[in-house]
Amino acid sequence: MPITQAREISAARRLENVRYPIRDLTSVADEVIKQGHTILPLNIGDPISFDFQTPPHLIEAVHKAMKDGRNGYAPSPGVKEALEAIRGEAARKSITSVRDVFVTNGVSESVDICLTGLVNPGENILTPCPDYPMYSAVLAKLGIELNTYFLNEDDGWQPDLVDIQRKITSRTRGIVLINPNNPTGSVCSRRMLEQMAELARRHNLVIFADEIYDKLILDDDEHISLASLAPDLPVVTFGGLSKNYLAPGWRIGWGIVSGEAAAVKPYVEGIHRLLRARLCANHPGQYAIRAALEGPQDHLVEVRGKLRSRRDLTVNWCNSTPRLSCVSPRGAFYAYPRLEIPEGDDIFVKELCLQKHVLAVHGSGFGQKPGTNHFRIVFLPDEATLTKAYAAIGDFMQERYGKSI
Ligand SMILES: Cc1ncc(COP(=O)(O)O)c(C=O)c1O
Repeated sequence: MPITQAREISAARRLENVRYPIRDLTSVADEVIKQGHTILPLNIGDPISFDFQTPPHLIEAVHKAMKDGRNGYAPSPGVKEALEAIRGEAARKSITSVRDVFVTNGVSESVDICLTGLVNPGENILTPCPDYPMYSAVLAKLGIELNTYFLNEDDGWQPDLVDIQRKITSRTRGIVLINPNNPTGSVCSRRMLEQMAELARRHNLVIFADEIYDKLILDDDEHISLASLAPDLPVVTFGGLSKNYLAPGWRIGWGIVSGEAAAVKPYVEGIHRLLRARLCANHPGQYAIRAALEGPQDHLVEVRGKLRSRRDLTVNWCNSTPRLSCVSPRGAFYAYPRLEIPEGDDIFVKELCLQKHVLAVHGSGFGQKPGTNHFRIVFLPDEATLTKAYAAIGDFMQERYGKSI
């Protein structure tokens, strides 16, 4: 066969706005590693990269499932044992009007399916700003224009209800609420959730309640599921094994649909069409769900203890460092300090990586109010690593911006 001249294969235009800034700096970090340096990673929320281990009884459950031959395709919505365990978890979360549950390859796939299953061209879904960027990536892939509402830094990063109200249009179909929040670590108050539910009720919106960090509450806040306060409302509550159960590589997540049965029926049918089209979630991994949700929860005590002291170290450092301030995170393992600097936070994180080999994510990657700068810290590393990283950031800021503000 004669070889014809190769023509460039262009990617689809709808991908132009698909971004995942958490991994944007990988090439800069690779360069630094190539030069023989070790990176201090404060960028990716993977507990397994640090001193956290998947609970052994979960590993045993998956191992047993594999040995028992659970290696074929699973039913598209998930295996019975897992679905029952998720329904049990919904009951413990006081979600009383459950209409459907399904297992997916991580919460990521649940989000993709549930947003795809709801929104038509020209419609929109309200997402928080700052945001966990997977939501905007999925919407960008669908060609949906972003409609974001601010989280209010002056109010402990709670959703800004006035802004939400302002942004709801006749074409808004849903609203995303991440609680506990990534990237800010905030936890929503009962009053806030009730007010959000009331807004959704008035405007006939579906609420996507991402509660993947619901067991990682660091102080004495109560985690309240939005769906438990609004049994009448269409709510999809997301959960999974990646964070609470320290198994992100297994890609196991789920969705719980609640609300009035007749109202959510067509939407649930749409979700199942998409679930069937992608065959099934990881089959043996689903056998860890019951083990996780109904087995010993001892690891959580240790995890929360470590996170609490790493959070305190982080916040104390931020709030005693010129040009930095930080709302104390109350859940998950992220802090989102504010930077007072004369340049963009994208330049800040890039130079920080090149000069001091500390990898963090720029606030502009998550979204922020115009005129402000932030960066996200993952405080999963141990105290010694964090102390080293914070000393390096302190030196960097002093060298670059001077001592005082
Ligand atoms: C808020 C939030 N939702 C979903 C995910 C993705 O979860 P999964 O690993 O289950 O796909 C993450 C991961 O960091 C997250 O922070």
